[in-house]
Amino acid sequence: MILVTGGAGFIGANFILDWLQVTDEPVLNLDKLTYAGNLENLASLAGDARYVFVQGDICDRPLVERLLQRYRPRAIVHFAAESHVDRSLHGPEAFLRTNVDGTFTLLEAARAYWSELPAAEKAAFRFHQVSTDEVYGSLSPEAAPFTEAHPYRPNSPYSASKAAADHLVRAWHRSYGLPVLTSHCSNNYGPYHFPEKLIPLVIVNALAGKPLPIYGDGQQVRDWLYVGDHCAAIRHILAAGRPGESYNVGGGNELANLDIVQKVCALLDALRPRPGGESGGESDGKSDGKSDGKSDGKSYARQIRFVADRPGHDRRYAIDASKLERELGWRPAESFASGLAKTVRWYLDHPDWVARVQSGAYRDWLQTHYGEP
Ligand code: NAD
Ligand code: TYD
Repeated sequence: MILVTGGAGFIGANFILDWLQVTDEPVLNLDKLTYAGNLENLASLAGDARYVFVQGDICDRPLVERLLQRYRPRAIVHFAAESHVDRSLHGPEAFLRTNVDGTFTLLEAARAYWSELPAAEKAAFRFHQVSTDEVYGSLSPEAAPFTEAHPYRPNSPYSASKAAADHLVRAWHRSYGLPVLTSHCSNNYGPYHFPEKLIPLVIVNALAGKPLPIYGDGQQVRDWLYVGDHCAAIRHILAAGRPGESYNVGGGNELANLDIVQKVCALLDALRPRPGGESGGESDGKSDGKSDGKSDGKSYARQIRFVADRPGHDRRYAIDASKLERELGWRPAESFASGLAKTVRWYLDHPDWVARVQSGAYRDWLQTHYGEP
């Protein structure tokens, strides 16, 4: 079996669902269920004997050791993290704790477990660190995309904590021989994405008649990858990646934030035109959602609002994923157009999921960060 940490979050849940579709190898999911963890993402696995869930903290070393001894995984795929840059600006401490201390705890527990394994299992064991392109810092518009050799220059508490964790992972390989793999992926999007991140926030706010906040001039560039392609990349790396190596994962889809938001609006305009009626489609966030069933004929793009920029906002990320393609034969299956259309449709088809994640804690976040009443 494999041990997945943070499997109730956005990418972890997609990974477990994909994994159990393409293999029969059981999965143990260790997740603390922070605000970002949602067991509903994995509800379709209820009663599936290949799936075990344990609620717990990766910083809890006795727990991690007990799980390793009991389930004897052949690999750890480590997703668990505090993952939102804006939250890291408001409160960096949780990021240091989970991303740095938590990774350290996992590495130490993994090392103790791995060092006692019989020779063949020891050689086959893998610790996969799921990292981000944000550890490389920001690129100028004309610079070449990040390769694996790019120096680390993290700019936010989030990316600094992920960079620190990556350094520990590397050191545990060099110093102790632990067979580690690291992947650096660009911005993901897709189903089960918590609506604090740009794409799901825009979909959810658009449908609620609320403002679509664009930081600064909206010309910051990200390289967007459909989450299913990231999951497939991790499977490739876990199967055939060379221990001690890093692999960049990206979609080759560089787009400015404003373009992204306009594309989401255009899809929504086609699939779920803005409601008409007395209050429908007002962009002041006070819409009561009532509609006479007709559209007001206007684009959701009229809800776009430029707001104060994020401090230290990275201008551009771009990934050179040629090593992964060359060595392991991975390529993304989705184009940005196909992936975004799937994503928007998923949100339209899952209003109950959206309603349930917009809990009190979510509203507190909107109030803290966007000053929403
Ligand atoms: P997420 O915030 O949606 O999910 C994180 C999960 O980790 C949640 O289920 C949460 O409950 C769990 N968790 C948090 N602290 C924990 C702890 N101390 N112990 C156990 N579980 C804990 O994050 P995501 O977007 O799914 O990202 C997953 C991983 O992928 C992260 O390591 C992130 O750095 C990395 N990554 C994300 C992206 C992206 O675009 N989202 C891109 C590249 C890399
Ligand atoms: P986000 O989804 O938070 O991912 P990351 O910061 O990890 O790249 O943000 C993606 C981009 O969108 C980033 O440049 C910040 C910007 N953004 C906005 O303009 N408005 C928003 O409300 C949010 C959440 C993000």
